[in-house]
Amino acid sequence: MDNKKRMLSGIKPTGKLTLGNYIGAIKQFIAYQDEYEMFVFIADLHALTLPIDAKELRQNTKDLISIYLACGLDPSKVVLFKQSDVHEHAELGYIMTCNSNMGELFRMTQYKDKTAKMGNNESIPTGIYIYPALMAADILLYDADYVPVGIDQKQHVELTRDLAIRFNSHYSDTFKVPEPIIATNGAKINSLSNPLKKMSKSESEKGTVYLLEDLTITRKKIMSAVTDSGSEVVYDTINKPGISNLLTIMSSLTNMPINEIEKQFENKGYGEFKKAVADVVCKELNDLQTKVKEIQSSGIIEKVLEEGASKASYYARKKLSKVYRKVGLR
Ligand code: TYM
Repeated sequence: MDNKKRMLSGIKPTGKLTLGNYIGAIKQFIAYQDEYEMFVFIADLHALTLPIDAKELRQNTKDLISIYLACGLDPSKVVLFKQSDVHEHAELGYIMTCNSNMGELFRMTQYKDKTAKMGNNESIPTGIYIYPALMAADILLYDADYVPVGIDQKQHVELTRDLAIRFNSHYSDTFKVPEPIIATNGAKINSLSNPLKKMSKSESEKGTVYLLEDLTITRKKIMSAVTDSGSEVVYDTINKPGISNLLTIMSSLTNMPINEIEKQFENKGYGEFKKAVADVVCKELNDLQTKVKEIQSSGIIEKVLEEGASKASYYARKKLSKVYRKVGLR
């Protein structure tokens, strides 16, 4: 395990997990768990950056850890933990906030997107402005070489690199400078109702497939996904964003190259293609939901999180104490 490169990523338990999170993030984690020394966590401190009900946060957290396990993340190979169980995240997060500047946080596209609809600047929660500094801390605590994320989080990993380089040059070598890893296929799954926008936990219900939703609803959403003019099933993100999005979903779930799927649906209409996509998605989610139920009734969740937190703390403690020495707090 020691000479493997280290990889780390997380998902925040806001809202319900989507097919975008599954394809863009979780499926990647599973694929990498043998090859890398992996750290995967529940970014629950990040879930507080926008108002969330405590009961909902607890439920989302339980669902997320169950989904991680149901998808095949193996706690004997992966350090699987909850961010708030390792207090060093919040502490290094503060240090990274102090080492970042207003301009670089203000430039984050996620911040701009999330606040675009909020209007009055004074009421924008501070958390969504400073969370990239906390995300940097999440990564830097563990000396991660690689960070697998969807395209929307790439800029935050780039900021992490900048902050690490700045800290290292100011205080001497302390952090490993990480690299983002973006899936070649499925780095951005778009909304079914607006295929020009990212599928997200907070976007339209109709356009978002939730991993734990009723599958008759999933099927309906896919069958009524916005498609494009024409009738050919061809990958063309400019002229056919809807069909291209469905092709990406199908290809990521079946591991079939997009051109083979195109061939399979040559001279067949959109309806037949959508039905096939719905079959693939519903089959995958049905298996996942069955396993999630088993895991939630098995009582293993607490033990997994406890063991994960204890392993993660070992690394986090060492790194934070080094940082505290460098900045003069020790
Ligand atoms: P979050 O919770 O918004 O998303 C989790 C992961 O899912 C990916 N993703 C998508 N991929 C493809 N298509 C989509 N439609 C889609 N929607 C989401 C995201 O890119 C991400 O990889 N700040 C992070 C969580 C975080 C983190 C970290 C990640 C906190 N600390 C340290 C990596 C390393 C977030 O809000 O992701």
